Amino acid sequence: QVAAASGHTVVLVDQSDEILKKSAKGIEESLKRVTKKKFADKPEAGAEFIEKTLKNVTMSTDAAAVVHSTDLVIEAIVENLEVKNELFKRLDKFAPDHTIFASNTSSLQITNLANSTTRQDRFAGLHFFNPVPMMKLVEVIKTPMTSQKTFESLMDFSKAVGKSPVSCKDTPGFIVNRLLVPYMMEAVRLFERGDASKEDIDVAMKLGAGYPMGPFELLDYVGLDTSKYIIDGWHSLEPNNPLFAPSPLLNKLVAEKKLGKKTGEGFYKYK
Ligand code: 3HC
Repeated sequence: QVAAASGHTVVLVDQSDEILKKSAKGIEESLKRVTKKKFADKPEAGAEFIEKTLKNVTMSTDAAAVVHSTDLVIEAIVENLEVKNELFKRLDKFAPDHTIFASNTSSLQITNLANSTTRQDRFAGLHFFNPVPMMKLVEVIKTPMTSQKTFESLMDFSKAVGKSPVSCKDTPGFIVNRLLVPYMMEAVRLFERGDASKEDIDVAMKLGAGYPMGPFELLDYVGLDTSKYIIDGWHSLEPNNPLFAPSPLLNKLVAEKKLGKKTGEGFYKYK
């Protein structure tokens, strides 16, 4: 959405037409929210902006078939190394030589993903934040194999889509998640110990620390499955790090398919 809104041609790829239809609806709704603010006094210009943006997006369920015309691939599929590697390996065969591959992974090592391809110098991390149309940050992750040219192209691309890029080495969680995920897990542990209610913890962090959402609201917003993937991955890398310890409560909610806002229930219930 943000790439299309800034004039880039985008092919959105997902597993089924049904999911793509849902995505298209999500993009349209989000664009309406953005437009309402951006073109508050000019509804006609707003409608034109939405139409132009949507025209920049085509959809496909076959990544290998469309990658031949792509300068940049941004992968944002499930947080699973094997599944991501399988996709990158396949796309590597069909993509032009100059095409840069980037992963939006929250927690996996970019180097491990790059190694599934033959283009390690044209491979990097490009990590956006929820909700992407609102959050100004992008983390650009350079591995020891990423070329300076690739890194600079991704910094330029981030600015071209209206974001502020920062860079970080290829380390667990990069900058934001390395700080944010242990903080959210500490909130869950505080609640698990019975020291405070989740409602009070959320109010406390909003009113006492100026966060726009409390940690439980944010966990529900990000998705409890995603949060669990992240913490489980880090725990397997550093089993003795108490900041990366799994939480029985988080595991229980995920096992019950209470994944947060997207499933209608997580720590909180949504209508
Ligand atoms: N698309 C477009 N606009 C959106 C939007 C979306 N998906 N979601 C919210 N907005 C807009 C609204 O239209 C509204 O615009 P307005 O100011 O003109 O009315 C504005 O954002 C504020 O929205 P709301 O009034 O509905 O609600 P809030 O004031 O609570 O803001 C929020 C919502 C922007 C999501 C804010 O609560 C927030 O910043 N939360 C923290 C988000 C955060 O921490 N994200 C990082 C998550 S970690 C991550 O992504 C990394 C991953 O790897 C795990």
